Amino acid sequence: MNIIDIIEKKKKGEELTKEEIYFSIEGILNGRVADYQMSALLMAICLKGMTIQETTDLTLAMKYSGDVINLSEIGKTVVDKHSTGGIGDKTTLIVGPIMAALNVPIAKMSGRGLGITGGTIDKLDSIPGFSSEVSDEKFIELVKTVGLSDIAQTKSLAPADKKLYALRDVTGTVDSIPLIASSIMSKKLASGAEAIVLDVKCGTGAFMRDLDSARELADTMIKIAELDDRDCTAVISDMNQPLGYTVGNLLEVIEAAQFLTGKVRNPRLYELIRELCKNMYILSDEYMNLSLDYYDKNTDLDKDDPRNLTNIHNLVYEKIDEILKTNAPYEKFKDFISAQGGDASFVDKLLDIDLNGKDFAEFTNEGYKQILYTGDKPAVITKIDAEQIGRVSLELGAGRIKKEDEIDLFAGVVIHKVVGDTVSKNDAIMTIYSKDKFNIKDATEMLEDAIIYSDVESYVPEAARGIVLDVI
Ligand code: URA
Repeated sequence: MNIIDIIEKKKKGEELTKEEIYFSIEGILNGRVADYQMSALLMAICLKGMTIQETTDLTLAMKYSGDVINLSEIGKTVVDKHSTGGIGDKTTLIVGPIMAALNVPIAKMSGRGLGITGGTIDKLDSIPGFSSEVSDEKFIELVKTVGLSDIAQTKSLAPADKKLYALRDVTGTVDSIPLIASSIMSKKLASGAEAIVLDVKCGTGAFMRDLDSARELADTMIKIAELDDRDCTAVISDMNQPLGYTVGNLLEVIEAAQFLTGKVRNPRLYELIRELCKNMYILSDEYMNLSLDYYDKNTDLDKDDPRNLTNIHNLVYEKIDEILKTNAPYEKFKDFISAQGGDASFVDKLLDIDLNGKDFAEFTNEGYKQILYTGDKPAVITKIDAEQIGRVSLELGAGRIKKEDEIDLFAGVVIHKVVGDTVSKNDAIMTIYSKDKFNIKDATEMLEDAIIYSDVESYVPEAARGIVLDVI
């Protein structure tokens, strides 16, 4: 077997065998396949696609390229959640503590941001002392004791994906459904969770721009999960506008902490959090108890009547809404931060910041800011483009263009007015922050293109469309 024949075969659009896929993946790690040969193969996969069998074989080859974590000693079904990447996506910081407070153990491996999309590990890095580098043993221990742990991908977990992802990033081969699906799922399967909820983002700020391709990506990942005996649900969510009121690192931690205490809850973010939590709960052991309890209390019910399922799902929503009225999720968040070395008193201080006021720059006592105001007449905001806000955030220093770039944890965007809001003359729409004043200047110019207004008189509201586009 040789790699040139494999590249030629894929170039013609033929199906690769399991052996050919394993040969290529082992080759990139043991040096028998050069980076440029793998890049050629990745481009051929991008252009010609892969069958579900090939995509599954590729996923498993990457999963077994390193360590596979066994979470069975936790003794309960461990649920994971993974987002395909978006702008302002701080859901992991919120969903994890809520689920842990509901007794659903969360063992999460998160990534760093790349390009315009943010990453949870960078956000957590903005908390002094927090460490995402935790051994497998400690990871399991934390899930057992705290109910929640979130760590960075270790060197030994799916190393082939690491190698391929770095090549894809610099060869224009990121946006391929089989490559994205196998990259995400190899890490999810290797990190051990038995149940996975995928948040597949769809829109200008996501890899998948339209609903059809988002559904195709979701279907592919679900099929891979099933073939590896995992339960998996995909929530497809809108990513045409940023999620919540902040985009950045520390800024998103502030929003997450304030969401957990109930101080500030962006309605679109709340809707998505509820849906993700509901689907995670359904895959947990707690759900089994809830539904047994429901039928115990209502012994005369017909189990085949679909209304019962709706009732049980409504009970799950109630549980989520109820726990969010208590301090338990916020306390879990702080327990999780302290357990991984972070300063929980710093998190408490974040609650006092008014993101619509002047205190963020004062709180951090560093950097520059610029406020973007509306023009001189009232208008309605009809669009805030997620992709452009992602670019602005990158320009400000909140993300990295190359893997080794250092991130500005302070940088980012605060959104004061959202789509559908009517703004008056000289209202503040957004504030941007950066340590670098030249970045502020360039980002301010870019920001103008991100927002579209309509005259108040000619504005026709679109039928309200929720953030959740589909659940598969
Ligand atoms: N996230 C990943 O881990 N891999 C991809 O290819 C895309 C998003």
